Amino acid sequence: MPETVRLNELPEWAALAKHRAELGGTHLRELFGADPGRASQLTVRVGDLYLDYSKHLVTGETLALLRDLAAARGVAELRDAMFRGEKINVTERRAVLHTALRAPRDAVIEVDGENVVPAVHAVLDKMAQFANSVRTGAWTGATGKRIRTVVNIGIGGSDLGPAMAYEALRPYTARALDFRFVSNVDGADLHEAVRDLDQAETLFIVASKTFTTIETITNATSARTWLVDGLGGDESAVAKHFVALSTNAKEVADFGIDTQNMFEFWDWVGGRYSYDSAIGLSLMVAIGPDRFREMLDGFHLVDEHFRNAPPEANAPMLLGLLGVWYGAFFDSQSHAVLPYSHYLSKFTAYLQQLDMESNGKYIDRQGEPVRWQTGPVVWGTPGTNGQHAYYQLLHQGTKMIPADLIGFAQPVAELPPRLAAQHDLLMANLFAQGQALAFGKTADEVRAEGVPEEQVPHRTFLGNHPTTTILANELSPSVLGQLVALYEHKVFVQGAIWDIDSFDQWGVELGKVLAKRVEPALTEGADVSGLDPSTANLVASYRELRGR
Ligand code: F6P
Repeated sequence: MPETVRLNELPEWAALAKHRAELGGTHLRELFGADPGRASQLTVRVGDLYLDYSKHLVTGETLALLRDLAAARGVAELRDAMFRGEKINVTERRAVLHTALRAPRDAVIEVDGENVVPAVHAVLDKMAQFANSVRTGAWTGATGKRIRTVVNIGIGGSDLGPAMAYEALRPYTARALDFRFVSNVDGADLHEAVRDLDQAETLFIVASKTFTTIETITNATSARTWLVDGLGGDESAVAKHFVALSTNAKEVADFGIDTQNMFEFWDWVGGRYSYDSAIGLSLMVAIGPDRFREMLDGFHLVDEHFRNAPPEANAPMLLGLLGVWYGAFFDSQSHAVLPYSHYLSKFTAYLQQLDMESNGKYIDRQGEPVRWQTGPVVWGTPGTNGQHAYYQLLHQGTKMIPADLIGFAQPVAELPPRLAAQHDLLMANLFAQGQALAFGKTADEVRAEGVPEEQVPHRTFLGNHPTTTILANELSPSVLGQLVALYEHKVFVQGAIWDIDSFDQWGVELGKVLAKRVEPALTEGADVSGLDPSTANLVASYRELRGR
């Protein structure tokens, strides 16, 4: 995107700043009072998702000015360039084509003049064949026993996506199979995952885009030792118990996994955008290829919406712009994602990588420091649990924290009637929280309840806390795909406006390099002179405690 004028020098930015000053402390109570149609007008439907953004601190004018900003920043042009397969990841000179992973078989999407869709579907077909063979028991371990447990070893995007989606879609999974996800280089993670398993019935899926990530390779090496030792030292067993998901065939072969047992993806798939690629193999084994396809179709539906819907009805565009509005003009630093679904217990953790690794940057695409807020701190856990922990701060704290409340009309089908009946209570809490956050409770309302005067300030709720409510009928594979694509494209919109490369992650590199340097210093007698005084002191304390 040729960009000469910086974001905060644009007239559209100045117009928003002026508008913000005019809006002052306008309360959501006033905005709703002034416009009875607001509740139905400030909503948008995309596929099975219904989004209510009426409880945001915006007027029609705000939204128009934000759309002007998006137009001035060329968001639609950058989006189209992404869908066309142009190398919009400028610092790594790569195309950004996770959207190709869910394209239908007959689509044509070119990277460097080559249509990538046939390769995407060839891998999906190979995954489907493998997933079915594990699900039916046709694929057996080295001793001929069928596989009972699948252990995915990966970290970051090679863990969070499949782990999140497996949890989300548990009711759709083959319950006879057990799935575990190992990510942490802390040996306790692998230990707890395998301690009660039979090697003969265990399949390891080693998921790593680069196949050089130290945590994953360390855990995979330990898992291989555990497997081979448990099978009487038979190295040839590895072929029946290890498969790899990677872009790097050479490293996979060097590790000792036959590349026949490798499921490929490509450098134009970012790690945090990869669970709908081969990285989703554990999920596909869990839910089966048909359900996996339904999920991909859900992603694709939102891709098409993002590509074609006009800005005023474009859900990712709207969500992205609202986040820009609060970061820039309300000094909001964080964003809460609060799913009212136990099955979405890992959803916010997944979004943390998606959003914070994409947009946690202070250097713009031109190499200059930005002069505006970029990505927020994303956090949250499922309701209602959070209500009894940190919602106090949302309601009466000093920070502006926009939140997404996500819920479903239907409890999952397999719940027995008594537990399904609890669903209304769950959803009543979601609706009540949106209401309380927006409208609060005035001092007069508190007084009218006969509350002693000295308690009135403590029991008053200012309200005016913005939320988006996202509703769908049920948490199906398709709806999960739609939700994830919604957030992917929201992150895209924000990165485009902030003029940052949302698709690199240089900020994770320094820690990796330093850890490699520090590790040798932890052993007895090692030289610590290259370390800074604080770290050298900590290392010395550690060594003393370890008796080294
Ligand atoms: O260190 C960050 C990161 O590169 C993420 O972007 C990525 O999802 C994760 O590590 C795992 O990388 P890989 O799939 O190559 O093992």
